[in-house]
Amino acid sequence: MNERAKPARHVAIIMDGNGRWAKKHRLPRAIGHQKGAEAVRRLVRALPDSGLEALTLYAFSSENWKRPEGEVDDLMALMRRFLKSDLPDLVANGIRLRIIGDYGALSSDLVVQLDEALARTAEGTAGTLAVALNYGSQQEIARAAAAAAALGDVTAETIEAHLDTAGLPPLDLLIRTSGELRLSNFLLWQAAYAELWFTDTLWPDFTPAHLEQALDAFAGRERRYGGR
Ligand code: FPP
Repeated sequence: MNERAKPARHVAIIMDGNGRWAKKHRLPRAIGHQKGAEAVRRLVRALPDSGLEALTLYAFSSENWKRPEGEVDDLMALMRRFLKSDLPDLVANGIRLRIIGDYGALSSDLVVQLDEALARTAEGTAGTLAVALNYGSQQEIARAAAAAAALGDVTAETIEAHLDTAGLPPLDLLIRTSGELRLSNFLLWQAAYAELWFTDTLWPDFTPAHLEQALDAFAGRERRYGGR
């Protein structure tokens, strides 16, 4: 099944480097995260024109709880602020929000806010923004495998149908910023045949032009899916 890459439908991003951006500019880490949220806003506004059907962003991993409490609070506050300020934009632009990960374990006011955002964007048809919150890929696979086992049907197809990403297009391209070359428990199953694109750009400096660059690189790649 040789295939010149078709246009990408689904891109996921490990948004890394907020802390290093802050350090580089001699600013508090919280400002780095704030600038990171601005980069998210820029990208989400560019989503309808990108040709993508889905963009998945790694906002908070199940391992991020190990960070100092103040930093966790800053990240949660940014999420609340983003939902408040950008929800009208998502609705107006027809962006459908999805959350992947065990977000029910977040603080109850944020869960309420997220559920409301999910409901208000449910009819969006211009693209899906999937945000990974309290997300860990191994945990997701374990949950999906348990669901498949409960059905007595443990196959790759049944497990996949129970992943948090069920219903999203297959993952085409996985981007990680800030020069780190790891997947860090993000979309391990979904990345089985995804193309990988790494950039030294720190997340707060990432713009829609960088996404274009990654999509151009993707368009030039040949995907063989194990064939030749
Ligand atoms: C990695 O930077 C980034 C995070 C752990 C969080 C990502 C969160 C945002 C971009 C902002 C909020 C998101 C939304 C959707 C509003 P790091 O702190 O690990 O950077 P470092 O490795 O340079 O220290």
